[in-house]
Amino acid sequence: MKSQDHILDEVFNHFLKGSKIFRNREVLRHDYVPDNLPHRKEQILHLGEITAPALSGSPCSNVLIYGKTGTGKTAVVKFVLNKLTQKAKELGSTVNVCFVNCRLAGTEYRVLATLCTNINIKVPFTGLAVGEIFDRFKENLESQGIIFIVALDEIDALVKVRGDSLLYELTRINENLQRSKVSIIGISNDLKFKESLDPRVLSTLSEEEIVFKPYTADELLDILMERAKIAFYNDVLTEGAVKLCAALAAAEHGDARRALDLLRVAGEIAERRGEKKITETHVREAQERIEHDQVYEAIKSLPTHSKIILLTAYFLSKFNTDRSVTGEIYNLYSEICEQLGVSPLTQRRVSGLINELDILGLLNSRVISLGRYGRTKKIGLGVPRKVIVEVLSEDERFRAIFNYKPKYLMALPE
Ligand SMILES: Nc1ncnc2c1ncn2[C@@H]1O[C@H](COP(=O)(O)OP(=O)(O)OP(=O)(O)O)[C@@H](O)[C@H]1O
Ligand SMILES: [Mg+2]
Repeated sequence: MKSQDHILDEVFNHFLKGSKIFRNREVLRHDYVPDNLPHRKEQILHLGEITAPALSGSPCSNVLIYGKTGTGKTAVVKFVLNKLTQKAKELGSTVNVCFVNCRLAGTEYRVLATLCTNINIKVPFTGLAVGEIFDRFKENLESQGIIFIVALDEIDALVKVRGDSLLYELTRINENLQRSKVSIIGISNDLKFKESLDPRVLSTLSEEEIVFKPYTADELLDILMERAKIAFYNDVLTEGAVKLCAALAAAEHGDARRALDLLRVAGEIAERRGEKKITETHVREAQERIEHDQVYEAIKSLPTHSKIILLTAYFLSKFNTDRSVTGEIYNLYSEICEQLGVSPLTQRRVSGLINELDILGLLNSRVISLGRYGRTKKIGLGVPRKVIVEVLSEDERFRAIFNYKPKYLMALPE
């Protein structure tokens, strides 16, 4: 039962913060692990069965976990490993669990250093060769006599940059251990990453596989409702709003992260306006804002020449030319490069970059037939011009270019 103290705290905080919307904003953060994960019972049980032998001191199978972004892989693994750790403590089992995000760790060295720290092996921040740390890790591990469960989240990041040598060593390590054993849980949303693994590593790593399917709109609705109960005050969230969040996220690719983001941003919009309820209008605005931010980030992180190609498409659109075919783009691109004091890439490279921008949706290209003159590509901007101005003007190198009148375009016949 709630104590009266607690109720008052809530009232005071509520008043002080001025929010009439959020009871607890934290539970909508990406790294929050809820106590209940609807529609993942099967995966939780499966991973539970795989890891359970560790509780009685036996090694468990390695497992690869797959599924698109936002399908609950990280949440499920953290959930199961937290429960396992609790149970191991109760039983006094010699199990250690270490969860590492390989993308955030960045290097093999840091992944390995994290594993070492987890079992109290001291390693310097830098300075040792990876092989040297690995030996230290192995010796110390053996002397501790434990089952070490290692979860490598976003494992593809490790392999993409460094190849699979650390994974190779880790999947072989048990051959040289008597008293301790290592079990690996690999997690990835990149299905192609399997192809980049040495077949021996792949077969050891994927003794078991668990697949996470995208959520349906109904499943997302259940997830959102659970979270909304904690996140918002009663009666703040309208049914239409939460259903819309679920439907929009399901239409994308069944991504629970997107659904929760929509809910949070919609709540923030309502709060900022001092409104009492979150409605569908707020959700639609949230959707626009999230998409805008994504486009913004995508453009900002492009390499220079891709930005210049976008600028080229910007000018073609601004001067309303019909000449946005590959060859024309290249001429204008070269002029803009010159104007910026950058040497242009070859036409071939530029074509490659145009394809990449097309895949990102920042450009739209369409192949058109020129009858007996063959075919060409017609290229247009995939985002509003003002977004290009907004993002690229933040970069000093590009600020002045927006007032420029390209000679190439001026010289074209009407
Ligand atoms: N079944 C569920 N119940 C409640 N919340 C969930 C569920 N599935 C996912 N979530 C929440 O959705 C968000 C995204 O989930 P998670 O981080 O586990 O996705 P992921 O599959 O690891 O995605 P990525 O491949 O991008 O890392 C998290 O905030 C998580 O708490
Ligand atoms: Mg994840």
